[in-house]
Amino acid sequence: MMATPKTRNDAAPLLRARDVHKAFGPNEVLKGIDLDVMPGEVVAVLGPSGSGKSTFLRCINRLETIDRGFIEVDGAQIGYKLQGDRLTELTHAEIARQRRHIGMVFQQFNLYPHMTVLQNVTEAPIGVHGRPRAQAVAEARALLERVGMSHKESAYPRQLSGGQQQRVAIARALAIQPRLMLFDEPTSALDPELVGEVLATMRDLAGQGLTMIVVTHEIGFAQEAADRVVFMDGGVVVEQGPPGEVLVNPQHLRTRAFLGRFIN
Ligand SMILES: Nc1ncnc2c1ncn2[C@@H]1O[C@H](COP(=O)(O)OP(=O)(O)O)[C@@H](O)[C@H]1O
Ligand SMILES: [Mg+2]
Repeated sequence: MMATPKTRNDAAPLLRARDVHKAFGPNEVLKGIDLDVMPGEVVAVLGPSGSGKSTFLRCINRLETIDRGFIEVDGAQIGYKLQGDRLTELTHAEIARQRRHIGMVFQQFNLYPHMTVLQNVTEAPIGVHGRPRAQAVAEARALLERVGMSHKESAYPRQLSGGQQQRVAIARALAIQPRLMLFDEPTSALDPELVGEVLATMRDLAGQGLTMIVVTHEIGFAQEAADRVVFMDGGVVVEQGPPGEVLVNPQHLRTRAFLGRFIN
């Protein structure tokens, strides 16, 4: 199936990353990442373990600082602001405010174990965004409906399967009304029989116009739900394009070698 373009060519990118470099001590992990993501676009990021995928996502919401280059979300540079004609570092409070526009879903669901499903989803809107409780609860219920978890709003995380917990984690990330959603291998910690329900939820979101960057090893998901596939290796973007091109007819040897593992 061909991906349908959801964006006009004249729209500004929601994410702009340019020449992003990041080293941990002597270990240069990101070696100049360039990536644009348009509003409403779903980008699947593939690549071998250790290629810097998680590090790149963490740089986007400033869980890591970068050494060179820049990352902009919705026109604002992550971690910095323009004062006069000089870039100055944001304070912790300002960084926290920037992060509120970016939702993140991790491999490990990281739900609060002592809170119910509903409390997990309302915690940030009430505690961080100062939403009135009744409104936050109504919105949380709508989100739980969207991920098919309404029937479990009073349950605690330990009473849920991994797939159910991850769907609640997705609802929780959506509760801050993010402009950009980052997923870091959201199905990698799940038992195989639970992967499908989480991918189905993500496919729904992708179809609803949410801007998503999804690091995944699920080639089928990339093929069906992504507008674009980005292949990373060794801290750079090796190749990118529509799934029908990158997954079917990869141009680079490294992409071919990587994809070869999934064909048997
Ligand atoms: N906080 C950290 N401190 C030191 N090294 C790190 C840290 N985070 C990641 N790395 C290193 O960065 C490299 C890339 O890791 P990562 O971004 O997790 O890759 P991927 O998600 O593609 O598997 C690895 O060599 C990893 O050991
Ligand atoms: Mg990773």
